[in-house]
Amino acid sequence: MKRIKHELVEKNVGWLAVFAIIAISLGGLVEITPLLFQRQVNEPVKNLQPYTPLQLEGRDIYIREGCVGCHSQMIRPFRHETERYGHYSVAGEHVWEFPFLWGSKRTGPDLARVGGRYSDEWHHVHLINPRAVVPESNMPAFPWLAENKLDGRLTERKMRAFRTLGVPYTDEDIEGAGAKVAGHTELEALIAYLQSLGTALR
Ligand code: HEC
Repeated sequence: MKRIKHELVEKNVGWLAVFAIIAISLGGLVEITPLLFQRQVNEPVKNLQPYTPLQLEGRDIYIREGCVGCHSQMIRPFRHETERYGHYSVAGEHVWEFPFLWGSKRTGPDLARVGGRYSDEWHHVHLINPRAVVPESNMPAFPWLAENKLDGRLTERKMRAFRTLGVPYTDEDIEGAGAKVAGHTELEALIAYLQSLGTALR
């Protein structure tokens, strides 16, 4: 008898869809609802700092150049990951990230804790020509970053937008932020951003 009922659902696409939707919705609710009430996923980790204006501009360059297509920023809680990259990523490190740059493709290594792993000079050489420091690298070269200069025209507006999303920038942080980044190269901004990654939690 039971078997026949099951067959009925399997052979009737309408019922199958209805039951599948119910099952997935329940599963989703069970996973998502507790997260809305857990402080540890909404609260920044203790040493988290909002990006400085230069780091913020660097992040936009990271997005523009598609670095996220080859690099994840998400260390999973597995031993083979934590031994290579450091402490696994936690939600509280990413509460001020809009949008998240966790990524899902690892052509290159994970960058969630690359901050401080290399010197600024290393990044400088590597980004202009990866093969100069890693002969077998298939990462593309980004030589134009050293030539393009930031004008800082939108920096303050970007920071205000982030503030509306909950990033604790003060008026003093925002005031004159554009002038602070103006004249820096895109490469300097990108390196400042990379050096900040994952440094709030070690
Ligand atoms: C086509 C894929 C690809 C793209 C796009 C790419 N990378 Fe890479 N990246 C790699 C590969 C592969 C490596 C490993 C070899 C090496 O170190 O060059 C790497 C290594 C790195 C490393 C060294 C990480 C470590 O722990 O050793 C950094 C930092 C880095 N990339 C930053 C960037 C940034 C910033 C961008 C965007 C401007 C970028 N990558 C774009 C593939 C890519």
